[in-house]
Amino acid sequence: MVSYITFFTGAGVSAESGIPTFRGSEGLWRKYNPMDLATPEAFQKNPKLVWEFYDDRRQNIARAKPNKAHLLMADIEKKFPNVAVITQNVDGLHQRAGSENVIELHGNIWKVRCIRCGKEEYNYEAPLKELPPSCKYCGGMLRPGVVWFGESLPFNELNRAFEIAERSNFFIVVGTSCQVYPAAQLPFVAKQKGSKVIEINPEYTPVSDIADISIRKKATEGMEEVFKILINS
Ligand code: OAD
Repeated sequence: MVSYITFFTGAGVSAESGIPTFRGSEGLWRKYNPMDLATPEAFQKNPKLVWEFYDDRRQNIARAKPNKAHLLMADIEKKFPNVAVITQNVDGLHQRAGSENVIELHGNIWKVRCIRCGKEEYNYEAPLKELPPSCKYCGGMLRPGVVWFGESLPFNELNRAFEIAERSNFFIVVGTSCQVYPAAQLPFVAKQKGSKVIEINPEYTPVSDIADISIRKKATEGMEEVFKILINS
């Protein structure tokens, strides 16, 4: 029986739920320039445009359902004692699949934060009634509760993620290109501290070089293999 199992996920885990990735051939950052949509400067310049982008994504995510990969991770959390999901995704699909120990490194698209009073809360309205939306407490402008380029990752979540990576026995990287730091460092930290690293990704990534096992498949199929590996370990 293994003791600490960590899943580290990116956009690829939600691709089979119909949510586009960022850097693939159909990726969002192939169509749009992230500097126009996912930076504090872009929001300052054109909050309505930025909100239109996030409002569209919220509507798409609201229609999506967790897939077999999300569901297997949640199932593994029920079967094994110390399972964590560290995700760069903002879609909340891990939680909807039933995972409880989820660390969101890039925030959550269902959160809104007031740029005036700082109050942050969940808002599941999709589409939003007004763009940009305003704070019901102080009337200030709300922004999406996600991390943008040039912003720091949430301190507590990042610390916890590194602690978990350091003590993992199995560190399973699913559907991330591992290009965005500091999150991309986690598999390397886990490996350095003696964890077995398993990667599920149809494509080569920097993690492929250090992975003990590379599963060149989509997340749903790859997770079925991982499930068997963990059960038999
Ligand atoms: P990317 O779009 O960079 O990478 C997605 C990865 O998923 C690629 O390596 C694909 O090969 C893989 N992939 C595609 N379909 C898959 C499938 N069905 N099953 C498994 N893997 C599949 O997305 P992330 O690595 O998540 O940050 O990107 C990291 C961060 O960059 C995001 O959180 C976001 C983005 O800019 C911010 O917005 C701050």
